[in-house]
Amino acid sequence: MSARTSPATQFEKIPVVIHPSAAEAAAALAAEVRDLILERRAQGKAAVLGLATGSTPVPFYRELVRLHREEGLSFHDVITFNLDEYYGLARDHRESYFRFMQEQLFAHIDLKPENIHLPDGTVPLDGVFNHCAAYEQAIVDAGGIDLQILGIGRTGHIGFNEPGSSQDSLTRLIPLDLVTRQDAAPDFLREENVPRFAITMGVGTILRARKLVLMAWGGNKADIVAKAVEGPETEAVSASFLQSHPDARFVLNADAAGALTRIRLPWLVGRAEWTPKEIRRAVLWLALTDKKPVLKLRDGEYNEHGMAELLTRYGNAYNLNIEIFNRQQHTITGWPGGKPNADDTHRPERAAPFPKTVLVFAPEPQDDSLGMGGTIERLVSQGHDVHVCYMAGGDLRVTDAEAVRFARVLLETAEQQSGGWSEQTEYARGVLEEIETKGPFGDPPARLRRLKALIRRGEARDSALTLGVKPGQIRFLDLPFYTEGRYRQFRLSEADIAAVGSVLATLRPHQIYITGNLADPSSVQGVAFQAFQAAWEARAGQAWRKHCHVWLYRGQQTEFAPHEIQMAIPMSPDQLSHKLSAVQKFQSHTVPELLDGERNRVTARLYDALGTAEYEAIEAFRRWEG
Ligand code: F6R
Repeated sequence: MSARTSPATQFEKIPVVIHPSAAEAAAALAAEVRDLILERRAQGKAAVLGLATGSTPVPFYRELVRLHREEGLSFHDVITFNLDEYYGLARDHRESYFRFMQEQLFAHIDLKPENIHLPDGTVPLDGVFNHCAAYEQAIVDAGGIDLQILGIGRTGHIGFNEPGSSQDSLTRLIPLDLVTRQDAAPDFLREENVPRFAITMGVGTILRARKLVLMAWGGNKADIVAKAVEGPETEAVSASFLQSHPDARFVLNADAAGALTRIRLPWLVGRAEWTPKEIRRAVLWLALTDKKPVLKLRDGEYNEHGMAELLTRYGNAYNLNIEIFNRQQHTITGWPGGKPNADDTHRPERAAPFPKTVLVFAPEPQDDSLGMGGTIERLVSQGHDVHVCYMAGGDLRVTDAEAVRFARVLLETAEQQSGGWSEQTEYARGVLEEIETKGPFGDPPARLRRLKALIRRGEARDSALTLGVKPGQIRFLDLPFYTEGRYRQFRLSEADIAAVGSVLATLRPHQIYITGNLADPSSVQGVAFQAFQAAWEARAGQAWRKHCHVWLYRGQQTEFAPHEIQMAIPMSPDQLSHKLSAVQKFQSHTVPELLDGERNRVTARLYDALGTAEYEAIEAFRRWEG
């Protein structure tokens, strides 16, 4: 039975392959591309590849480079066409897609420059139409695209075909959607710097490729992926047009597949394996869907939603309800470090030892206070030995204007000293000059990045102190993957893993908290987590590790859903305001929508809706078992 027609995938209108990780998916796809190149070469033809930019294809390009370097795969006769380019950016611009492709792929393989095609972002407005027509013609002249690689934007775009793009649209100039511009904001430092237009292949151009592979990694893509795969074909989600292509498929990791019916609601497609986790998920889903507290769910509601089997197991709804209610109730605790001398049978964390050594990792400054500020404060006030460790410097989020302000203060201070502080004066002038010379989009020199990291560091320190962390227990790792990298292009190295490992070795904590964003493996949080994971695994045999619990929190991503939460730390209105005052210490960059504590209020409202308890706000955690 093909995946398309099995009961589990009955709602899926495009074939979907789910891989355990992005790296494995990328390796399989790269092998397919290798086979295609060799097959076309054997036929005396050139393989024509359609390429995409963004963070998604990065692991795939790394694998192609590896195949070239280590397995001798040549690209000498391969022809490439990229999907799109920002309008207004020259090829050497730091954020141009041309430069991205050079850095990620072209410079590392033997592709001929004349075989590389990208739309030109600098053609004058009155030349755009002809330029786009010529791009279409070049694809036709090359014999059409054999395999087109795609990513998907949160708007459902492929290429830059934003909502509203028609199925037969061709290469053209298009305004970028607000969500797309927000997603690109970190690359350009702020939203207003993101170009407003791009030149993109049309949906029609893309659909003419003989084979289409759309890749997506991470939970932040899960909803839009499900819409494209299971929803109607619609201009509102241009990726949904892949449904009518004869040879298109989605290649996903488990997180990006998370909202497909077979994964999200498997009991609706006859595929549920009723593990304790799955039962909890199903019951909470039913309660929230039917807007009833868990203890009020009845047999009929279970039957109507494909969960009759659960009733058979438990005898009746009441037995099932009470079990799930108790489990949810037991996630709530005011004692994140465990309650000393109390029975801990049903508590998320052990009572002993007390006090505990607690290590909070913040991949980027502010992740800690945003995600678990209230919990940090509780841990400190309950007598635990709390250490906060900032992994990345965070300077890429600090604007030039902020650096100018600090450099000017330093300059004035230095100039006012009798005799003058010549070195300091020279330093401050140097920084100001660097900012001037590089312009708004130039690569920031190391010295400027360092100053910005110090600005961020000052804010992080203030914030941690507000939460009661002792000054000597705040660490800054300045991991090299970040210091030497840029958004979407971070690379983990042994030096990162060693730095994280040395903190583990020094502290041998009883509890570790880290933000678990595996949603986007190429994000700062994703790479930082991989550094932690490698350092953790390298210490597999050590005694302290057996007694160490690792808790995941959410930094800037969507909060855990109620069924995922294993520890819920409630906050009173006053505790929430205190937490927010720590979050607000970050002045140089902040995400305004995260500053009002609404996310923690939403979790509290969900607990209330489930009938457990009514609090002002809740911070949520999940155990990581390695
Ligand atoms: C890039 C492109 C876009 C991206 C999409 C996802 O050439 O055409 O459609 O594939 O915006 O971007 P990432 O991979 O950065 O999440």
